[in-house]
Amino acid sequence: MLDLIIRNARRAGQTETTVDIGVKAGKIVEISPKLNAETSEEYDAKGNLVTAPFVDSHFHMDSTLTRGRPRNNESGTLLEGIALWGELKPLLDAEDIKARAHQLCQWAIAKGNLAIRSHVDICDPSLLAVDALLEVVEEVKPYLDLQLVAFPQDGFLRDPNAKAQLLRALDKGVHVVGGIPHFERSMSDGSQSITELCKIAADRGLMVDMHCDESDDPLSRHVEMLAQETSRFGLQSRVTGSHLTSMHSMDNYYVSKLIPLMNEAELHVVANPLINITLQARHDSYPKRRGMTRVKELATAGLNVAFGHDCVMDPWYSMGSHDMLEVASMGLHVGQMTGRSEMREMFQAVTSNGAKALQLDGYGTDVGCNADLVILQAHDEIEALRLRPARLAVFRRGKKIAMSPEQSSTVFMGDNSISVDFTIQN
Ligand code: FE2
Repeated sequence: MLDLIIRNARRAGQTETTVDIGVKAGKIVEISPKLNAETSEEYDAKGNLVTAPFVDSHFHMDSTLTRGRPRNNESGTLLEGIALWGELKPLLDAEDIKARAHQLCQWAIAKGNLAIRSHVDICDPSLLAVDALLEVVEEVKPYLDLQLVAFPQDGFLRDPNAKAQLLRALDKGVHVVGGIPHFERSMSDGSQSITELCKIAADRGLMVDMHCDESDDPLSRHVEMLAQETSRFGLQSRVTGSHLTSMHSMDNYYVSKLIPLMNEAELHVVANPLINITLQARHDSYPKRRGMTRVKELATAGLNVAFGHDCVMDPWYSMGSHDMLEVASMGLHVGQMTGRSEMREMFQAVTSNGAKALQLDGYGTDVGCNADLVILQAHDEIEALRLRPARLAVFRRGKKIAMSPEQSSTVFMGDNSISVDFTIQN
């Protein structure tokens, strides 16, 4: 006796037509073209796309949904955003942080995003946001996986208290070691911060995810150091370089040396297309750089490239609804990832590649995986990127936790009312 059968599902990344997916005790236990087993519940996917959940590999839950407090970011720059966040931090309390985080998590669930890696600023001496978000991690656990990164926003070395506070945050249970080497006082301080932070991660058996080279400076070289220290401390496949926007502006010859070094360290790369295209190149006149890292070249070289939303309605970015298909679509356009396999790679950047960076267990749509599944009103990944369609149903461990009505439009022409369907059956 099964708990659930999802019928007529078209699994992302599979060539089969449609299958039935059998679920028991929160796991996918059977997949076949036609399941005859008894079940307590059925859901007819009607030939629509079924995917494992979207993964947001880079987010800031402590600042989300604060747009306009205490004022707007008028210049649109990263540095005004950081200054504005500094003004806002003393005004926050735990209740406010938790309420905003829960609201964002509800948006995430509705959009089918069931895993989020959020950086949390540890530079506030009270660690208010750390305590509040650790509570949120437990409260949302039945619905989504929230992973926290200890993020020294004001600089691990530049802020004299950051080192002790980062260790305290990790002691409290924050999952991942963060950093921001390009915001330290000098290149050498940035390098030193990378060494110290990788050592902390190695000593504690933790993953690393650093904001790294988030600038337009073609000579910013922290990712080189991050790759070197990752290999030196034996942290291969456990370290993520987030943003890496300076790679956009680097000399091609240097990049031809850098990418193999990153590959050797098995670095994960996280780009944040919505934020990179808006925050970077603010000092350029024309032509203006795009500011996103070299997604195409990194993916072609075999690195794991995932995407994050980074911000939703906060000091750095006033837009967004936490739709990871919007993120993937922006990455596709900015990175000119328009080949068919490249477009599918963009879908993976917000699904399986993110799961790999976050080291999520039981992720996928195969037998044995968690029954965490999202039904999209689309026939394949490319159509999903084109339409950013309704999440018809979202399942977590086999239980439906969100649903949206099918999107449809009616056009009136003369005496006719015509139902418009934007999907195309290939
Ligand atoms: Fe960030």
